[in-house]
Amino acid sequence: MPFRNLFDFRLPTCLVHGPGSIKRLGEFLPAGQKSLIVTDPGPRSAGVVDKAIAALDASGIPHACFDEVLGNPSASCVQAAHRRYTREKCGSILGLGGGSPMDVAKMVAVLASHGGRVEDYLGAGKVVNDLPPLVCIPTTYGTGSEVTPFAVLNNPKTKNKDPIISWKIVPRAGILDPELCVALPASVGGPTGMDALTHALESYINLMATPITEGLALQAIGLVGRNLRLACANDHELEATGQMLLASAMAGMAFSQTRLGNVHAMSHAAGGHFEIHHGLCNAILLPYVLEFNLSARPEKFAAIAGGLGVNTAGLSARQAAEAAVGAVRQLNCDLGIPVKLGEAGVKASAIASMAKVAMTSGNIAVNPRRTTLKDMERLFAAAV
Ligand SMILES: [Fe+2]
Repeated sequence: MPFRNLFDFRLPTCLVHGPGSIKRLGEFLPAGQKSLIVTDPGPRSAGVVDKAIAALDASGIPHACFDEVLGNPSASCVQAAHRRYTREKCGSILGLGGGSPMDVAKMVAVLASHGGRVEDYLGAGKVVNDLPPLVCIPTTYGTGSEVTPFAVLNNPKTKNKDPIISWKIVPRAGILDPELCVALPASVGGPTGMDALTHALESYINLMATPITEGLALQAIGLVGRNLRLACANDHELEATGQMLLASAMAGMAFSQTRLGNVHAMSHAAGGHFEIHHGLCNAILLPYVLEFNLSARPEKFAAIAGGLGVNTAGLSARQAAEAAVGAVRQLNCDLGIPVKLGEAGVKASAIASMAKVAMTSGNIAVNPRRTTLKDMERLFAAAV
């Protein structure tokens, strides 16, 4: 694969990690400029917004708050947040929450520096200006949006989730404070943690993987294997929660360089057709897509099995690879994640449409096994 010998690696975000690290927020935002906190009702009710406000107040940074982001955010949500940014005369942005608020924060920053409509910037290379200072603080351990050059928008016209792709939208800092998400309900932590695992797995096996991304992705797989169950078990596992935040960020660093694979092509299409949580959709799809990809990367699947805690001694590469898929299924089962998309509201009647939309994804071309429309229909049929 000649292109593997020619690659670049970028990581513009300054990461701060550890309990209480939200107190350092003021180091990364300009004093004297009002900052818009972009969040959703979850962090507000969990007291996380109050912690961010206390950190901003301690640094003398004025602030306003937009807390109306919903899951799978649409253009109207981004426009509403941007109107608040303009009305409040803000000069910097803080994305606080899961992937949706962080992605909306990125898109508000794009509109603040470019004008127009958010749809104008979908795809790669459309963001040309520097953005206002942008910091992200994840309160789930899944998307890695604090380090990635992606922001995903739900697009009702294409029935897809379409990305803005630009290194210009990468936050200047990401604060990984496990105290903010140690009490995350298992119903949120499980699916978001599985999103991080999906990022790591899809990056690790895909055609664009490099030695740097493989190292990050494999380490992230091991961190998820050792910590996700524990982080979801109760509200006190600060160490495991901190490790999951690292896993999420490291998987984000890896897939920022490589993109993803069939799971994300499919979940973005499914999310464009139905209201389904992104991480939950990925978690359900993951074993089906891994089975499909197994024959293209058996030796890497064996390494995945090791990362997920399987004792592969005495197993052939094929046996270890199959054990990796089994370990992912067991992890889903332990986290209470359904086996079929139908249990999460996806209808079989949409398979043909979802498959067609999925095939338009840029993630198909980097998936390790060539995928046709027929393959895609079969994958959906198995998973629904
Ligand atoms: Fe994802």
